[in-house]
Amino acid sequence: MRIAVLGTGMVAHTLGGAWKKAGHDVVLGARDVADDPDFQVLTLQEAIVTGELVVNAITGSAALEAITGLDTSAMAGKTLLDATNALTETNELLYPNSSLAERLQAALPDVRVVKSLNTAAIQVMADPTLIGPSSVFVSGDDEAAKDAVKRLLHDLGWSDEAIVDLGGVTTARGPEAHILLFFETIAVLKDPMFNIHVVR
Ligand SMILES: NC(=O)c1ccc[n+]([C@@H]2O[C@H](COP(=O)([O-])OP(=O)(O)OC[C@H]3O[C@@H](n4cnc5c(N)ncnc54)[C@H](OP(=O)(O)O)[C@@H]3O)[C@@H](O)[C@H]2O)c1
Repeated sequence: MRIAVLGTGMVAHTLGGAWKKAGHDVVLGARDVADDPDFQVLTLQEAIVTGELVVNAITGSAALEAITGLDTSAMAGKTLLDATNALTETNELLYPNSSLAERLQAALPDVRVVKSLNTAAIQVMADPTLIGPSSVFVSGDDEAAKDAVKRLLHDLGWSDEAIVDLGGVTTARGPEAHILLFFETIAVLKDPMFNIHVVR
């Protein structure tokens, strides 16, 4: 699949690299296009045109404005996987009692927004086998879009047992608020190699 990852930072490179390794055709989208040894880098607009599936890896606080500022008709009917956390400058939730995923879905009704992968550190999200069994969450209104995202999660090494489908896009509030617990935990462990695991 041709995946367009918006952003050229750590998340974009790490997820893009893992999906490339799994056989996908990955391009990155940047506000300032520069040469990259590992990826073809396009403008954000070119990326959303060419990608069959689009991944948001832009800083969460900037993503809504950056994406809705594009001609998003190019994304109509496509899946937008949002893997980010939207925080204020003081690391509080930017959208308390809501979520970036919901805001994106409301602003882009023709796009199939799916929230996932934002709850673990980048090393773990891109290769969950690096630690013991853990969970990854999926939220979105469109079942086919969630299935496409689940296939991409499988490609990263997430098993069906590890994937917790929470339901519609409003359920992204929980995983987005998890960043607060993530910060508290990493402050204690002083190591990003951990994750949440839903067990019964
Ligand atoms: N790092 C992790 O372990 C991790 C894990 C899960 C989720 N996340 C979340 O994923 C997101 C990205 O994290 P990251 O670590 O990859 O951050 P990063 O390395 O700082 O990369 C951020 C990317 O966003 C772009 N960007 C920022 N403002 C923009 C704007 N106004 N318009 C267009 N592009 C803009 C940056 O472009 P420039 O290079 O031009 O500034 C850069 O490509 C964050 O929301 C983060 O909370 C991170």
